[in-house]
This record gives sequence, C-alpha cells and structure tokens, in this order.
Amino acid sequence: MKSILENRPELTRRVEEVAEVAGYLWQKGWAERNGGNITINITACVDDDIRRMPPISDPIPFGMTLPRLKGCYFFCKGTNRRMRDLARRPMENGSVIRILDDGASYEIVADEPVRPTSELASHLAMHEQMIASGNGYTAAIHTHPINLVAMSHNRAFLGKDTLTRLLWSMIPETRAFCPKGLGIVPYAMPSSVELARATVRELAEYDVVLWEKHGVCAVGPDVMQAFDQIDVLAKSADIYLSARAMGFEPEGMTDAQMDELKEAFGL
Ligand code: 13P
Ligand code: ZN
Repeated sequence: MKSILENRPELTRRVEEVAEVAGYLWQKGWAERNGGNITINITACVDDDIRRMPPISDPIPFGMTLPRLKGCYFFCKGTNRRMRDLARRPMENGSVIRILDDGASYEIVADEPVRPTSELASHLAMHEQMIASGNGYTAAIHTHPINLVAMSHNRAFLGKDTLTRLLWSMIPETRAFCPKGLGIVPYAMPSSVELARATVRELAEYDVVLWEKHGVCAVGPDVMQAFDQIDVLAKSADIYLSARAMGFEPEGMTDAQMDELKEAFGL
C-alpha cells in the first residue's frame, strides 16, 4: 500500500519529527503504556491529491464545534497506541484526519483507519485556538511527566503562578525558555470536553498547562519546541525534588535575579 508520505518530503519531515519526540517521551519515562498523545496541523503540507483522497472511515464527531478547523488536516497519535511504537512506526500508530465542513466531525484519510487519540477534543480545541490567535503554532503534546504530575497532588502548588514562580526560580534557563510559565487546569475527566474547554482557557495565557493529577499539555510552533517547553519545566521540577530529597528546601533565585533575566532576554 502506498503511504501518504511517499514523494512528500515536507510532510515526511513533520511526521518524522513527531516520531522523534515520541521516542523522547518514552525515554523520559513519561509515556507508560499508551500514555500521552501528539497532534500536528499539517494543512500547510496538503496538496490537491490529498484533498481528493477518499475517506477510510465514517464521519466521526469529536464532541465540539470548532469552525476554524473546517478543511484542516492533522496527523494524530492513535488512541491506545504506545509512544514507543509511534516512535518507530508513526504511520502504523497514527493517522491523518480531515475535519469536515460542520467543524464538528472528522474522517480518517490515511494511511490506515487508526482511530485518533481519546484526547482529540482537547487537541483540536488547542489547534483552533492557535489558529485564532494567529501565532503560527502547529503542534500540541499531552504527556505524563512524573515529577510535574506528583507536584500537582499538592494543593499548595495549585494557586495561580505558584508553581510557575517556583519552577522559574530553580535554574535561569526555565525563566528564559518557558517565559509564560505553567497554567493549572483543575482535575477533569480524561478525554472530556470539559477538560478541553478548561485547557484552552488556560492556554490563552500560557504555552504549557498542568492537568491536575494527570499530566501536561504544551503547544508550540513545531513539536520539538512544544517538547522543549515541557522538558525545561520538568528539569526545574527535578532540581526541586532533588533538593528536597537531600533534605532541604531549595533557596531559589530571587525575584530580582529573575527580573534581571526578563530584561536581558527581552521576555
Ligand atoms: P490515548 O491513547 O487515547 O491517546 O490516551 C492516552 C492519554 O494519555 C489519555 O489522557
Ligand atoms: Zn493522559
């Protein structure tokens, strides 16, 4: 069977980048079983031949109406598929979907009828918001970083910007490379529309949000940059936890030191 990637170098590069990041999520220990999901907006790489491709599934509603996504195409991890398998064989563990004209349902177009992630509502709501804001972002990741999920079990960390300031203060790079910080989404049922709505509400202000007692979501211009944002926050969480494991509360950079970075990096 011919793959949609054949003779499409840009689309191939983008899917290979998803596979590379999927491998990192597994190596990090953030992707037990089928944990986590990745979607990318590939509409810019879609040609007329793809637009004419017949669907290989019935129309499937995704639970929301997102008018800006009409006619858009996404590569999505399959539901119940492993990140470590997506890393090695992306087109067997993910699929390309087309959003239908109602902006509320999709059909699968390639390569195989792999049903997209159960968090599709959250992912598509994030993509709709990225389009609306005109920021040129194309990627959304959801994953389960151990340290950040553990921190979300402490009510004291869940106040607005409490964790952001703590994580920023652990190492200068986090302040510099995750300048918007970490938004907090109160616990909601996985895969629910309620979770999707709360996620985009927080993402209006942040590039990364913490799903209480579940995981994180990040958006970015591409999947590598979305991953980097989670990675720097998780590094800060590791530093905090290492200090606590050594028996002390880390001092953290001062507000003045963080403000100085803000100036220097033009954040
Ligand atoms: P999927 O396998 O459906 O992508 O779900 C994984 C997950 O992390 C749900 O929150
Ligand atoms: Zn999850």
